[in-house]
Amino acid sequence: STADIGLIGLGVMGANLALNIAEKGFRIAVYNRTTARTREFVEAAGSLADRIVPCETLEELRDAIKPPRPIILMVAAGAAVDQQIEGLKPLLQQDDIIIDAGNANFHDTRRHMNELAGTGLQFIGMGVSGGEEGARHGPSIMVGGPEASYRRIEPVLDAIAARYKGEACQAWVGPDGAGHFVKTIHNGIEYADMQMIAEIYGVLRDGYGLSAGEIAPIFAEWNRGRLNSYLIEITAHVLSATDSVSGEPLVDMILDRAGQKGTGRWSAIESQHLSVPATTIESAVAARSLSAMKTERQLTEERFGASARGTLAPLSPEKLEMLEQALFAGKIIAYTQGFAVMAAASREFGWNTPLGTVARIWRAGCIIRSQFLGEIAKALDVATDTQNLLLTELFSGYIETSHPHLRRLVAESALAGLPVPSLGAALAHFDQLRRGTGTANLIQAQRDFFGAHGFERIDGDGTHHGNWLPLAGSEAES
Ligand code: 6PG
Repeated sequence: STADIGLIGLGVMGANLALNIAEKGFRIAVYNRTTARTREFVEAAGSLADRIVPCETLEELRDAIKPPRPIILMVAAGAAVDQQIEGLKPLLQQDDIIIDAGNANFHDTRRHMNELAGTGLQFIGMGVSGGEEGARHGPSIMVGGPEASYRRIEPVLDAIAARYKGEACQAWVGPDGAGHFVKTIHNGIEYADMQMIAEIYGVLRDGYGLSAGEIAPIFAEWNRGRLNSYLIEITAHVLSATDSVSGEPLVDMILDRAGQKGTGRWSAIESQHLSVPATTIESAVAARSLSAMKTERQLTEERFGASARGTLAPLSPEKLEMLEQALFAGKIIAYTQGFAVMAAASREFGWNTPLGTVARIWRAGCIIRSQFLGEIAKALDVATDTQNLLLTELFSGYIETSHPHLRRLVAESALAGLPVPSLGAALAHFDQLRRGTGTANLIQAQRDFFGAHGFERIDGDGTHHGNWLPLAGSEAES
């Protein structure tokens, strides 16, 4: 046995990760369910093939790796991971480490850890972000599981991860399912970020009547300012691409039904479990679901009509400033919500997740990478205990100047019949948050009226009940 590490699953992500590992000087044993794929992979690996050990069976894979053996699983999340673990269990030895590097649900990761407890085998749940390109040349890596197991694979992760000004974008973010949880929230934030960008695109296209070619330079320009990020950069790029078949902007030829594989939805579900509002993420998930209901949307447009294109035109420099600042404000609130969900999970599960580090390893390699994450890291370093980024000095300053623009954008969009669900959710969150006195007194009164649920009083302790007058022959009764 000569290999430093093993990898199962030579799909796009697995193959690229394996090449990345080999390129950094490690010997890697690889296995794929279909052997033909393994051969094809090694043939295409060029000079890196020297450091790749192709294996046709799991036994061969086991024997090829130096114990204690770290083995990365890069297979579809869910049943395939279960099957691979079952297959490996009888073959592996004390202290071997199974590393699930897919987009797993952290509940599954926790379950695997429980099931392996007592076998001597170690389990790591590792979030890997950056798509194909990231896997090949430097992803962002979020590791969860036993710290000792992490330390053993750290040299490999350190070598293959993306670099931000020399710092490797990989870290141990806690025991247990912390790694997959953090990756899930990364994706939840990714959903919100993408949705808000799409909403601004919608306002520019439908409200201001601009073509894809006219919108592209706007995003390119924003990418040089406060919105600088990979997602804004690719948006400008995508909007300027031409379809080779029709000669039209490619984006205009793409059906407006968004796919989703689960991580966004899980973010929303987990935030609800933790009682932490993540409404920007929830609305982004819902917007994808609604996008898939194409026929229903067409029928509703036929019945009620949609506002005419270009009703907000012309686009002035002031409006451009409003759009940019509104997107910035929405983004701040989305990230605030996402980080609050991670803080709550860390408390709930006792993970001690270093949130500043999470922000730091997201500065490069991953899909939501941006300068902005460096600023979040700085804010969290100063206020380590903060649940609310908006109350940090840096972000309170940002939101103070940008939220009036978000308000104007949401209001104008509402009047023009343009949907901005995630930006609207961001604004509602901010407005609800900054009202020290809200309206839940009425909710409590209603709950006490119909179910004697009790309420607290503003002028004393304890639980109280109202001396509500009975409903007298009300219409609602009949
Ligand atoms: C990443 C991406 C990656 C993938 C998601 C997207 O961080 O590299 O998030 O994990 O693109 O699976 O998920 P949807 O298919 O649900 O959009």
